[in-house]
Parts: sequence; C-alpha cells; structure tokens
Amino acid sequence: MKKQIKEHSLPSLKEAAKRSKEATKIIHEEITYSSRLLEFAKNRKYFIRTYGCQANVLDSEAIEGILQELGFVPVDDPLKSDLLILNTCAVRENAEDKVFGEIGSLKRLKDINPGAIIALCGCMVQQTHIVEQVKKSYPQVDLVFGTHNIFRLPQLLDEVVFDEKRVIEVLSKEGEVIEGMPLARSDRFKAFVNIMYGCDKFCTYCIVPYTRGKQRSRRVADILNECQNLVDNGYQEITLLGQNVNAYGKDLDPNLNFAKLLELVAKTGIARLRFTTSHPWDFSKEMFEVIAKYKNIMPCIHLPLQSGSDDVLRRMGRRYTVFHYRQLVDELKSLIKDVALTTDIIVGFPNESEADFEETLKMVRYCHFDSAFTFIYSPRVGTPAAKMEDNVSMEEKKRRFDRLVKVVEQEAEERAKRYINNVYDVLVEGTSKKRDDILSGYTETMKLVNFKGSKDLIGKIVKVKILESHTFSLIGELVSDE
Ligand code: 5AD
Ligand code: SF4
Repeated sequence: MKKQIKEHSLPSLKEAAKRSKEATKIIHEEITYSSRLLEFAKNRKYFIRTYGCQANVLDSEAIEGILQELGFVPVDDPLKSDLLILNTCAVRENAEDKVFGEIGSLKRLKDINPGAIIALCGCMVQQTHIVEQVKKSYPQVDLVFGTHNIFRLPQLLDEVVFDEKRVIEVLSKEGEVIEGMPLARSDRFKAFVNIMYGCDKFCTYCIVPYTRGKQRSRRVADILNECQNLVDNGYQEITLLGQNVNAYGKDLDPNLNFAKLLELVAKTGIARLRFTTSHPWDFSKEMFEVIAKYKNIMPCIHLPLQSGSDDVLRRMGRRYTVFHYRQLVDELKSLIKDVALTTDIIVGFPNESEADFEETLKMVRYCHFDSAFTFIYSPRVGTPAAKMEDNVSMEEKKRRFDRLVKVVEQEAEERAKRYINNVYDVLVEGTSKKRDDILSGYTETMKLVNFKGSKDLIGKIVKVKILESHTFSLIGELVSDE
C-alpha cells in the first residue's frame, strides 16, 4: 500500500532568497524524545552517508548525536541498517546525481529489511524541484528534512515510525542559531566548530545562500565554550567553520569581527587552529596581524579565487578584482612565514573566453597555490548564472578543465619540493591505508606526510624530516617524539 505523505512544510527558493534586517536570534533547543521512540530506537542500527562540505560533516555529527542519545547504534554497512540517512550536497549537479543513484540502489534495503527507514536531508532537499521529484519518483524515501530543522529529527522520526506516513519538513526561512544540540564527534583529535551559518554573498553561480539561508553568527561565548571543552578533552586541532568566516559577527554586533574571535580562540591554547572558508572581499588587515602573531594559528589559508578574469569575476558577483586578489596574496606571503595557499577555481562559467581562461592559468602560476579544488561550472536552478546564455561547448570546458588541472599539479609539485630535507611538526592521524606500520599525518600547512612509526603516536604532534615529495603527499622519517 502506498504510504500517505505528511507535509509540514516544503522548501521555496524564492522565500530562501529573502533577507530580513532583523538581528540573529540565539535559541537554546531542549531536544526531547518520546518514550515510545526511545523504546523503538534502542539498539536499532543507523547508517549515515555525508556528501559535500564540512558544514554537512558537522550537521551529520549533530544528527548522530541525536540518534545515539535515542539509543541507535552506528553500522558500517548501509544494507544492515534500520535507519539510513543520506546527508546531501547541492553545490554541483554530479553530487545530486550520485544521491539519486544511491537512493535507487537502496531500494534493496527495503527487500532485506521491510521496516527500514530511508531519510534524506541536507542542501539538496532545500530545493523545491528536488522534493517534488522525491515525492513522485522515490517512494522508498520515508523522511525528508532540511538544513534548518535538524533539532526536529526526534519528532519527525516519531511520526514516520508510529503514524506510518512519509514525512516532509523543509523550512526555507530562518533567522536563528540553534544551540544545545548533542554532537557525536567523528574524530578524537581534530574538530570542526561552526562559528556561523548561511551566506549573504549571493555569488551568481552558488546555491548555498538559498540552501543554508541568511548569515547568522554564533555568540562568542558559545564558541569559546565549545573550543575550551575540546582543549580540555585533549583535542589538538580546531577548524573554525563558516561559508565566509571573515564576515563573522557583523549580524550580531558592529564591534565584533573575525580577527577578534580568532585571537580569543587562539588564546584557549589549542595546539593548532585553522579556519575556512575566507572570502577575499572581507580579508582585513587585523586578520593578517592576528594570524602572524599567534604560533598556534596555522599558516595555511584557503582563499577561493574562482577565476583569474576580471570580467568573469564581475559576472560571478565576487566583489574583488584580480589586482585586489594579487595584493592579498602578496601581503599574506610577506607577513606570514611559509604560508601555504589553497584555492577553489571554476572553469567554464557562461561565456568564459579563451582569453579569460588564460588569465586564470596566469593567476595559478602567479600565486603558486599549494593545492586547488577545481570544478567545471554546473548551472544551479534558481541562481542568476543559470539564466545566463552560454556559447562555450562542454567539450571545450572539459579541455580547459584538463589544462587547468595540469598547471595546478605542476605548481603543487614545485611547491612540495621546498619541504625536502627540512623538519616539520606533524599531527599524527592514523596508519596509512595500505600499511599498518606507516603513520600518516599533516604538517601545519596541511600537507599529508607518511612515515614509519609506532601507533602510540596517533594523536600526537611529532617532528618529521622530509625525504621525498610527491604532488599530494610527502615521505619522511621520524626525528623525535618529544
Ligand atoms: N558550479 C561549479 N562549482 C561551484 N562551486 C560552487 N558553486 C558551483 C557551481 N555552480 C564551487 C566553488 C566553491 C566551491 C565550494 O564549490 O568553487 O568555492
Ligand atoms: Fe557560495 Fe559565494 Fe557564499 Fe561561497 S561566498 S557560499 S561561493 S555565495
């Protein structure tokens, strides 16, 4: 029998695009669990797959926190689960295709375990057309919830289990920060800490301002509390997270800014402090000074370039020019010793000319990026760029993409050579995938290092001398474990 659908609310990109002038509200959610759901969940198995960026990784940690408080236990095999959750990404079409492929193949789960629940959440379901498609063509999906109402998961699950309905609740608008959600951290030494949610930049290609809503900053006290707790629990590395961290605080208090927050977190004494993502438009002098002043702020900056052509940058709505970006890079390199720079680049934006593309290659060579995430432009329904006409063929875009990847790799290889024969601090994360006696970890500049050593060193920061460099990793030997 076809299950009925219970719609609490459906997403609307139009609503999501609106921005109120109201100050951010901070809400402490007391998460409550019905006794019948607690009884149902006890020792049942869940599996969660996370697509996309670190914001989704943190959302998944909150979802797992709730599920574990309910009594669910994690499993590694989706086909052995009673509750399967796909936390999705909408940034490019191929991420969405993968999710639809996976939902299709997971129909099998219902043959093996007819009572299993399949849930979809994350950025993809914030889009009207996706929810319509799921409702119509994927009856195996029992629950759809959005990025703004994770705290409602217990109530929604209760309805799926006990009312035997398909349940949909996706909110489009928000002006709030939800505090007090439990987090099941996926790592014992490294943690992400959200400092803000959403984005107000509206770059013309990007779906994020619609799927994650208005920029909302967390309060300094709440962030510091979380960070101090991590330090007290033996964490070695914190990454402060936001779509555009340099805009932190503007929605809370005009006197607050990211540089001030960064300094306060550095003072908690965490061994390694990182932050991502920075927008070149908001990068302040004060930020440079704080990064240069504190040794525990890692000299590794992710600064998305997107394109090396002023014309393309203007049409992307990026608010900076190539000249401005170059100046930033020059300043970073002169003020922060041995700084590593990483970036994101999109090729094939509508009407990108060969000359525009060559400008991008020129910038990659000028900036000497240590690594770069490269993407072929993917039109996103509802964004301004999706309405732009485009006269560049997909074959040409793919050719440019391959050319870009080559130059990025050449630069990365060249940059990696500087490590040879020098000694670096490495935070040991685990053993290599292939060999048990080989440890792997990251330098302060986020370069992956493999070296021989004992497993006891996992979670420690050790000194490693670099012997060989490859494009994406280094090989070294342990100098001392002091
Ligand atoms: N097409 C291709 N790449 C995109 N990105 C964001 N939106 C799109 C899109 N529509 C890339 C940008 C961003 C990174 C997270 O993903 O480079 O910085
Ligand atoms: Fe998207 Fe631009 Fe916001 Fe980054 S800054 S999330 S690219 S709109």
